[in-house]
Amino acid sequence: MTTYNIGFIVGSVSSTSINRRLANALVKLAPQAELNLTEIPIANLPYYSADHDADIPAAAAEFKQAVEAADGVIIVTPEYNRSVPGVLKNALDTASRPWGQNSFQGVPTAVLGASIGQIGTALAQAHLRSILAFLDSPDLQQPEVYLQMTEGLITEDGEITNDATAEFLLGWLRTAHAHFELHAKQN
Ligand SMILES: Cc1cc2nc3c(=O)[nH]c(=O)nc-3n(C[C@H](O)[C@H](O)[C@H](O)COP(=O)(O)O)c2cc1C
Repeated sequence: MTTYNIGFIVGSVSSTSINRRLANALVKLAPQAELNLTEIPIANLPYYSADHDADIPAAAAEFKQAVEAADGVIIVTPEYNRSVPGVLKNALDTASRPWGQNSFQGVPTAVLGASIGQIGTALAQAHLRSILAFLDSPDLQQPEVYLQMTEGLITEDGEITNDATAEFLLGWLRTAHAHFELHAKQN
């Protein structure tokens, strides 16, 4: 059986991030023989500027390389003001440049997110999918995961306290695995 090396990006740098809890839960749930999940950090990236194109900062180059080397990337994001957080957009912009060196090109992605509100990041994910389409990244369409993080649903270290939620997320990981497998064969 092939083990896919999947990077994950958390679109929040908050020390109390509920999306990091969700990412921790995915790491715990993922079938190890099939999916090896490793974080691709974004907190230390400089703000993207075209000034960097001629001499890419080391942190940006490392980030781009990690995206390119992954068999797929999972993006776990909050919704900020009905869109993606700036830190995540900065990471995507960094990966996309210099022009012609878009690190997400052909790299399959799968997105999900948690919010304290009932719409569960739906609008942020709609914007994110639009960005990923432009970056030519095949993005998993279904099932969608719009998680409302209620009190105690996922502990800080990623224990899911509700069986139905755990089962749903495991099913999502299995579908994501099939998506990564499909696009790995095409690359
Ligand atoms: C700047 C800001 C904007 C926010 N905008 C939204 C929003 O548009 N929709 C929403 O459901 N929650 C919104 N929230 C609430 C977030 O769902 C909540 O803060 C959540 O914990 C953020 O995820 P994180 O903990 O992973 O950073 C916002 C929070 C902040 C700080």
